[in-house]
This record gives sequence, C-alpha cells and structure tokens, in this order.
Amino acid sequence: MSSSTTSRQQQHQQPQQQHRLSMFDRDDDGGSGGGLNSAADLLVFNSNQKLSITQQRIALPIFQVRRQILYLLETHQTLVIVGNTGCGKTTQIPQYLVEAGWAEGGRSIVCTQPRRVAAMSVANRVAEETGTNIGEIVGYAVRFEDTITESTKIKYMTDGMLIREMMMDPLLSRYPVIMIDEAHERSLPTDILMGLLKKVQARRKDLKIIVSSATLDAEDMCQFFNSNRTGDKSKDTAVILSIEGRNYPVDIHYLLKSSVNYIDTTTTTIVDIHTTQPPGDVLVFLTGQEEIETIRRALEDRLSDANGKSRRLSPYKIIPLYSGLPMTKQMKVFEKPDIKVRKIILATNIAETSITIDGIVYVVDTGFVKIKTYSGRSGLESLVVVPTSQASANQRAGRAGRNRPGKCYRLYTQEAFSKLSVHTLPEIQRSNLAPVVLQLKALGIDNILNFDFVSPPPPDAMIRALEVLYALGALNDDCKLTTPVGHIMAEFPVEPQFSRMILSSVNYGCSEEIITIVAMLSIQGLFVNQSQSIRRSFTVKEGDHLTLLNLFNIFSRKSKSDSSWCHENQINYKVMLRCVQVRKQLLAYAKKYQIKLISITDNNDKNIPDKTVPIRKAIVSGFFTNAAHLQPDGSYQTVKDKHKLWIHPTSVLSTVNSPEWVLFHDVTVTTKEFMKELCVIEPSWLYEIAPHFYKFKS
Ligand code: CDP
Ligand code: MG
Repeated sequence: MSSSTTSRQQQHQQPQQQHRLSMFDRDDDGGSGGGLNSAADLLVFNSNQKLSITQQRIALPIFQVRRQILYLLETHQTLVIVGNTGCGKTTQIPQYLVEAGWAEGGRSIVCTQPRRVAAMSVANRVAEETGTNIGEIVGYAVRFEDTITESTKIKYMTDGMLIREMMMDPLLSRYPVIMIDEAHERSLPTDILMGLLKKVQARRKDLKIIVSSATLDAEDMCQFFNSNRTGDKSKDTAVILSIEGRNYPVDIHYLLKSSVNYIDTTTTTIVDIHTTQPPGDVLVFLTGQEEIETIRRALEDRLSDANGKSRRLSPYKIIPLYSGLPMTKQMKVFEKPDIKVRKIILATNIAETSITIDGIVYVVDTGFVKIKTYSGRSGLESLVVVPTSQASANQRAGRAGRNRPGKCYRLYTQEAFSKLSVHTLPEIQRSNLAPVVLQLKALGIDNILNFDFVSPPPPDAMIRALEVLYALGALNDDCKLTTPVGHIMAEFPVEPQFSRMILSSVNYGCSEEIITIVAMLSIQGLFVNQSQSIRRSFTVKEGDHLTLLNLFNIFSRKSKSDSSWCHENQINYKVMLRCVQVRKQLLAYAKKYQIKLISITDNNDKNIPDKTVPIRKAIVSGFFTNAAHLQPDGSYQTVKDKHKLWIHPTSVLSTVNSPEWVLFHDVTVTTKEFMKELCVIEPSWLYEIAPHFYKFKS
C-alpha cells in the first residue's frame, strides 16, 4: 500500500456546526459532525443488559478496583483514574463514594461532564441503577436545567455549571469529593475547572479530587495536582490508577511514500484488509459525515467490483458512525451480525475515546481530525481539518488491540508521524478567551496571567479577550470588572457578546426581540436539512438574525402543539421547543437582573420608520468585532483585521444583492472561510456603538 494526505481542503465541503458556547454546555459532540441528540439519545452500549442491575454493576471492569479506589482516595488528595470508555468510571465511582459514606451529613458528590447530554443521560442511568427518581438521590444540573434537590447525593453537572457555582461558594464547601470526568478531552471548561480546583485544594486540604480519563497519557494531570515538592515519591499527593492496563500488541504499518489521492488510498487499504487479512472488524477514522459518505460509496463500488471479477469475497457490512446520524443507526456499530460477517466501521473521531467497540482488530488511521481553531489575531474561531497528534494516533491504534493482537494502518509515512505534534492542543489554546477571562475575573482572579493553567493559553488570544471585554464595557481602565455591567455579563449564562446585546437592548427598546434572537442562536440543529430554501420562506431582508426572529414569532403564534407546522416547514420541532425553553430561562434571568422587557412593536414613535434598526443596533452592541465590508470580488473583509470572508450559502443574504456592510455571528471553514448568520448594518453604527474598538478609524 502506498500513498498520502495532500489537497485535503477540497474534500470538506459540508456546512459544519460551530461551537457557539465555548465556556458553556455543548449540544454537539465536539465537532465531529454536528447534530443534536436528546438526553435519551447518547450512544451507550450495554453488553450485560440481560443481567440484573446488581449483576451488571459487578460485571464492570471497575468493580475489580473498587476497594483500591476508596483506599487511594483516603491516602491521596487527588486520584487520576484511567480506564477505557464503558468500564464504569462515570456511573460507578460516585455510587461507590456514597456507599462508603462520603455523602453523609448533608454533603454530596459532584461529577462533571463536558457535555450537557452526557450529564443528563448518565444521571438518568444512575437513578435507574439506584431505583430512584431523578433529583432524589441522583440529579443533574446543566445550563438552563437543574434537577438537583436538598436530598441529592450524586450531582452530575457540566464543568461550566460547577464554575458558576463557585461564584456563590468559592470553596465549594459542601462537596467532599469532586470528580472531573472525561478529562482527556481537555475541553476549555474542564481545563479552567482543573486550575480553579487546584486553588481550592490548596485552601481545603480535605477536598478530594478524582480526575477521570479514557486515555493513557494522564501523567501531566497527575503532576499538575501533585503538591509534593520533596522529590520523595512516597509523599505524592496525587496518584494514577489504571483500570484496564492490559491491551494486546498492535502492529503499526506506515505508507512507504505519501499518497496523492486520499480517498483512493483509504478505500484501497480497506479492500486489501478485507481480501487478504484473517477475520476481525475494521475501524476507519475519518473527519466528518461528508467524507464518510464519500468513502462509503467508493468502497461499495470497489468491493462489489472485486466480488464480480475475482472469487467471491467473504461477507462484510459497512457501518457509518457520526453524531448527526439517528441513534438507531449509530447503535449498529455494536450489533454483532453473523460471526462470518466483517464489520467495516467508518467513523469520526467519536470512536477514538467517546465509545468503545469490541471486536476491532484492524484500524485504518487517515491521520486527520476536524477541530476548532482560533486566531487571536483575527479573533475568529473556526472548524478545520488538521493532522492528528501522536497521542491521538496512538489512542486510535490502541482501539485495535482490545480483544486480541491487532494491526493499525497509518495512511502516512513514518517520517510524517515523527513530525506530528506530541499532543493535541487543548481547547484552551485554540479558543476565544473572552468568556474565560470574564468568568475568572468574576471569581476574583484578577491577575489572569498568573493563573495556574494546566496549559497556558497563547498571549495574543489573551490580549484579544481583554480588548474585546473592554470594548463590551465589561472591564474598566484598570482591567477590573465593571459594576453592574461586567458582573451581570459574567453571571448571565450566555457568552459576553450575547449578554451585552441583552443589556443594550433595553436602551433600544427591543429586549423581547433580542432575547428571542439569543435563544434562537443558542440552539443547534433547527433545520432538518441545511438547504437554504427552508430558511428563505421566512426571509427578512435585513439578514439571518431577523429571519430567525420572524420564524420564532410565526411559530409562537401557532398553537404550541403544532408539530405539523414544523414538519411542513422542515423545522426540527424538538429543537424549537428547546428554544422556547431557553428563551423562558433567559426571561427569568432578565427579571432577576431587572432588565426591562420591551418590544419594539409596542413603540409607536414616528421617528423610527424602520423598526429593525434598533434591533440591529442592539446586535451591533454585542458583535461589533464581527463587522465586514463588501469587496469588489464579492468577498468581504473584516473591518478591524482585514480578514477575507464569504457569505455562507445557507444565509438568506447569499442570494440577494450583496449588502455593503454586514455583521456575522460566526465563521465556518469548508472550501472557503464563510460567515454564518449575518445581519445588514450601517458602518456609522460601528463608530457610534463601539468607539473604543474602532478608535483608529475615521
Ligand atoms: O465512564 P465509563 O465510560 O468508564 O463507563 P460508564 O459510563 O460508567 O458506563 C459503564 C457501563 O454502564 C456501560 O458499559 C454500560 O454497560 C452501562 N451504561 C448503560 O447501560 N447506560 C448508560 N446510559 C450508561 C452506562
Ligand atoms: Mg464516562
């Protein structure tokens, strides 16, 4: 086999979802394809379903180390637990702690999750295991939803929620043990939480921290929490416990020379495995839905060709796996067809750590992953396909050796491997930091540069964050949080640009409308399919924000149970209901902070002939950084950084005469850098509303 990895950009053309809420809960799966799953829809496989709950609990690998966990927690302040996904970390450890008495005397155990869906789903599972209703012994708290009561002993929360709780109770005094779960993901809130908890632990020697990881490289995290500086190992305050140390050897194969046709190399490798290698399932790592579908088609053609031409091939089954896929289809990766049938799983990065599939003997690693990146210079976050890291490549390879010795085919050269970065950059090093800085300031951490980050973020991103927060009015000249604006912005459970919009909207007389727009932009997966024609039927010529507002208003005038209207208009009804829920929560926050609710439709002032103007100005007050100007070639250039961008085809503005000045919500990179969710603006508003940010312009 020979081949490579060039000219990849052209192959990624599908519109991708953005991370919109860097410091908050995620609806998505971290960029491997978008899609929204409800709590019940998290991909989990239980091979012991037929056993009683007690027997199921005993059958889990983690049960073997139950006593060790409890012992190490007595003797150390921090315990790092490493074990494959599915071995029982999330559901069992909190229960062991309760059983051992850690939650007595009104205390409770917290277990954090990077994603809201995971927190909800695992809480439901543990409630089921304990035979109680959600909220009684086991509860969850995620953004916009809290089921925790006085009696709750096990709390599953998103990391972001626990950080918010620290604003009320900085030492988290009611919790004897805090478990930071899925730490290997190194999500932005997880990293911040680790830094904060290390500070708390210095003040509260009784606080036990459990860090749980599904990958082996946990040494850094253990060192981060270890406060022993004596060099005497026996005095370490942090220790690692590995649950499934045993993995079978995996033979690694590299390409001899780089290939030019990526799709062809991938399919050829899979066909070769199927035609020459002994039985065993195949797991292929790809970057996204579109690519998976392309490879699937190519593979079907090649395999049926081979079947016709030569001898009959042994039976096989191609199974795609990405998060946008309906749950019943995702579950197919766990089904065991006839023993003779070889499963060929075409998966995104979710198969790297988020799920564990038994029976994989061959791994094909294309060497790429789709992740979020951020440029401190342009201030833009975007999803891009990049080479994986060595750690990630090793984790992928390990998936082949769970049940017996396996093989991993890396579709790049050994030299290319040696040039890969050792670790994947943690999210904090590739994110917009404005929400982080705001939250840390609200927690009283003024000298952010001295904060003990697990991995320090790049300085240019930090400077950008300070600059933006200052322009938003959240920080004063001394870089301190302003009162009340900065404090309210930090406490509002949305990104600072959104809370700024909401605060300003009162002055523009349109807080009702702005709250609706914020709710609409906070949800994902609203349109059943991404084609623009659906949006078009609600078009407001001033752009997508106003189009979304219009859509919501039409929906809310219908009866609430009108799912058929959604169906006809290809709008996801469940997502729409969630938007209604989010909007309600935002209204409650508005009430709490005495933000007046006013609608522009109640304003009869003859001086405002165009009622979209105040709404658009309120949007500018939050997102003035994202202003762009039309260029002669039809592209746009950001006003501040002269960055070239295009209107995304899903925008309602993509088919009209290009407006001269626009403001965008976010950027996605596929074939080009596209702006998504646009609003038509007047340039004079920028200087009127954000004079600090645009001070050098005339
Ligand atoms: O956290 P970790 O990945 O180590 O495992 P877990 O989430 O605690 O799950 C342990 C086991 O519980 C899984 O292997 C499933 O058998 C079962 N489980 C389930 O059936 N349904 C869930 N929603 C979660 C877990
Ligand atoms: Mg888990």
